[in-house]
Amino acid sequence: MKKLIVLVSGNGTNLQAIIDAIEYGRIDASISAVIADRECFALERAEKHKIRTFLLKRTPENKEHYFHDLMKLMEDENPDLIVHAGFMKILPPFIVEKFPMKMINIHPALLPCFGGKGFYGMHVHEAVINSGARISGCSVHFVTEDVDGGPIIIQKTIEIADDDTPESLAEKIHVLEHKAVVEAVEKILTGNYKIEGKRVVSLH
Ligand code: GRF
Repeated sequence: MKKLIVLVSGNGTNLQAIIDAIEYGRIDASISAVIADRECFALERAEKHKIRTFLLKRTPENKEHYFHDLMKLMEDENPDLIVHAGFMKILPPFIVEKFPMKMINIHPALLPCFGGKGFYGMHVHEAVINSGARISGCSVHFVTEDVDGGPIIIQKTIEIADDDTPESLAEKIHVLEHKAVVEAVEKILTGNYKIEGKRVVSLH
C-alpha cells in the first residue's frame, strides 16, 4: 500500500479530507506520519485516527540541524508522497531535491497568480480581492525550489461575490481545497500522468 506523509501547521481540515478519503476507500493509501512544526489541532486530528505524529519545532538550539532532522524523519518513512497541507515552512532546496515530484502543496489561489513568498493565509485572499479579480480558487501543485511555482496538478475555481471579504473567500475556497487535495493525491498515486515542462498531463 502507498504511504503518505502529511505536513501540517494549523487546523488540519485538508489532512482530515485525506483521512476521510482513505477511510471511505477512495484513496488506496495509508498516512504513515503527520509532521507538524508547531502545536496545532491537526495533530489532534491525526491522533484521533491513530496516525503517528511528530512535532518538530524550530528552536534557537536546533536551528542549525532542524531541516536535516526533518529530512531524516521523512526519508526514514520512505513515503510515496508528501503532502504539504497548510505547512507553514518553506523547505530548503536540499529537501526538495531529495523528493523530486514527490511533494505536493495546496495553495488557496489560482497559481501562477498570487503565489510565492509572502502569499500565505489571509494575505493571499486580500491580494486577490484588491486586484479586482472576479474568480479565485485553489491549486494543488508539485513542490519545487520555485515557491508555489511547481507543475499544477488540480485547480478549482469560484466566483468572487461583490460582498466577499478575505475571510468569506478563504472559507469558500477551503471547501474547494478539500476536494482538490483528494483528487490530486488520487491522481499522483495512480501514476496516470506525465510531467511535460510545467504541465501535468493525464496519460489516458
Ligand atoms: C489552506 O488554506 C491551504 O491552502 C494553506 O493552508 C491552509 C491549511 O488549512 N496552504 P487546513 O489546516 O488544512 O485547514
